[in-house]
Amino acid sequence: MINEFGVKDSKVIFSEQAGIAWDLLDAEAYEVIFVDLEGNILFINDSASQRYHKSSKALIGICIWDLYPHTHLNYLKILLNQVAATGQPIKSNFTENGQWNQTTIYPIKGKGKRVDGIALCIHNVTHQMEKEEQFKRVVLELINAQEDERFRISRDLHDDTGQRMTALLLQLRSIKDIIENDRNVAKEEVNNAILNLETIVKHIRQIFYQLTPPSLNRVALPKVLDAFCSSVEEANGIHVDFSCQEEMPELLENQVTVIYRFVQEGLTNVIKHSGATSAWVNLDYTDGDLNISLEDNGNGFDIKNTVEGLGLRGIRQRFISLNGCFEIESAPGKGTRLNGTLPFKSKGSRELI
Ligand SMILES: Nc1ncnc2c1ncn2[C@@H]1O[C@H](COP(=O)(O)OP(=O)(O)OP(=O)(O)O)[C@@H](O)[C@H]1O
Ligand SMILES: [Mg+2]
Repeated sequence: MINEFGVKDSKVIFSEQAGIAWDLLDAEAYEVIFVDLEGNILFINDSASQRYHKSSKALIGICIWDLYPHTHLNYLKILLNQVAATGQPIKSNFTENGQWNQTTIYPIKGKGKRVDGIALCIHNVTHQMEKEEQFKRVVLELINAQEDERFRISRDLHDDTGQRMTALLLQLRSIKDIIENDRNVAKEEVNNAILNLETIVKHIRQIFYQLTPPSLNRVALPKVLDAFCSSVEEANGIHVDFSCQEEMPELLENQVTVIYRFVQEGLTNVIKHSGATSAWVNLDYTDGDLNISLEDNGNGFDIKNTVEGLGLRGIRQRFISLNGCFEIESAPGKGTRLNGTLPFKSKGSRELI
């Protein structure tokens, strides 16, 4: 039978002094201590007595407060009093010598439902707490990544679109003023305003495109990358060459996203920073590794003295999150080469990467 402590193999101990029958449990995973309202031990199981390096028998009658670590003493006393007063159990986690212990304090009720004693059930939850901490760290990283992305979008909108919209507004106001006096000048200004508006629309489209890349799950990655490279070539007037092995295995969705974001950020950097006339993108699959590289013939940069922005940092984090690696080779006047590798496991594989 499993009782309220969730432990099997219970045995019944009868305490004559207290006149209460105890249904006790002796499982190794749980330390169980019964005390009276003054804190005197009435029962302690073997797991709990080992903590105090004494036998269970030798500990009967000793006050629990003389044994408990000073760090938690006052807090535990408050909890015990609360359980005695309310008759409701309480759970709390304490650390001790690098170990997390979950202590559940139960009221032991005698005649007339009066609380006559307290049962402490202590359980090592270090593993569980570590998992929770790990989970919290991952959630925090996700939140930070989300914040970084928001910052980037607002910066892009502010620096480019925001400025252009303000200029357009001023332009339209001036057209309103001159429209009465000189229709030809007004016409010219309207044409300029249309051109400005077209640039703004193009920029907003680019932002949307970056936020939601084309349906990566429906079209094969090489095709998507090829089309993306061609669109960069067309829009920016630099030569972008894409090459890929003929037979590519079917990739997992998160691998596809990481590779797509690599090419997207890499080419954006080429346009923004490199002054290159050509860039080469290559996707390869060899010896169980997926490899993506991007090279340009631009200015290059001094890696040691350059602070990584959200772009390169984001790519690195994405590769690391899939147990891959990301490297940058660059030097002033020597162009830049980015290289990303992912360990490859096919879609059907049960192993996690
Ligand atoms: N292909 C390149 N050629 C020359 N310099 C580069 C190239 N790629 C990156 N850099 C340098 O590395 C810096 C960091 O790049 P990163 O992509 O991390 O940030 P960013 O492009 O400045 O801003 P963000 O990507 O956050 O919009 C750039 O500011 C630039 O100085
Ligand atoms: Mg960048």
